Amino acid sequence: MPRPTIGVFDSGFGGLTVLKSLVELIPDADYLYFGDTARLPYGSKSAATVSHYALGAIHYLQERGAEMIVIACNTASALALSAVRQNVAIPIIGVIEPGAEQAAAASKNRKVVVIGTEATVASHAYQQALAVHSITAREKACPLLVPLIEEGWTEHTVTDQVAHIYLDEAFRDSFADADVLVLGCTHYPLIKPLLRRVAPSHVTLVDSADSTAQSVAAQLKTDAISKTGEAPSIQFFVTDSVEKFQRLGPRFLGRDIPRVEHVDLQE
Ligand code: DGL
Repeated sequence: MPRPTIGVFDSGFGGLTVLKSLVELIPDADYLYFGDTARLPYGSKSAATVSHYALGAIHYLQERGAEMIVIACNTASALALSAVRQNVAIPIIGVIEPGAEQAAAASKNRKVVVIGTEATVASHAYQQALAVHSITAREKACPLLVPLIEEGWTEHTVTDQVAHIYLDEAFRDSFADADVLVLGCTHYPLIKPLLRRVAPSHVTLVDSADSTAQSVAAQLKTDAISKTGEAPSIQFFVTDSVEKFQRLGPRFLGRDIPRVEHVDLQE
């Protein structure tokens, strides 16, 4: 099987955590990354708006040669996945189902806490995906975490306190004994060590970036891809400042981003 070209779509920088997991797990592929930085955050927008934005970005990735799309953004996966699947002919993988599957595998007492943006939580997409596995979920919106992480405050007393307040509110009453915490937002893997400290010690953290990469590998049957030994090529497209993406992006991707192309999507 020839090397596939995988399109990765996110509202901005956070999806680079998913791209990082994908490149690590599936090096025999080429990648196109689209960050809709001019229109982020998606986490506070309506389903209609996010679906409209997602379709525009995904059509662009298709025109550039993507044969499969990963919607790396939790908010876009929660709000727009079915609309996108109805309108796009190539395979589309979101982050919610893989995250829910991994959470289901990790939970012994069938009770899970999910943290995410306001829009992801309001959609109850995780609750529904987890109910399929007979898991009860409490979803908790943590809107202050994305701006703190983008500020680079990944190890900061303020982020620590904010996370404490959110997680204390989530792991209480009937969810005090929940045994899994799903990181339901692209940005949260960056504060995984902090969340590990703040969450109750009996809790397993599930990062949907890793589970999504595993699900893409399974769908692609990566063992069958011909091995050329070539490093994966990655092209980056953003709708706002190239310079800002090159400055913030490496925090999420873990390496420099030398070339980025600016894209102006017509409304
Ligand atoms: N990418 C979004 C998510 O995973 C977080 C940032 C945003 O709100 O656009 O939910």
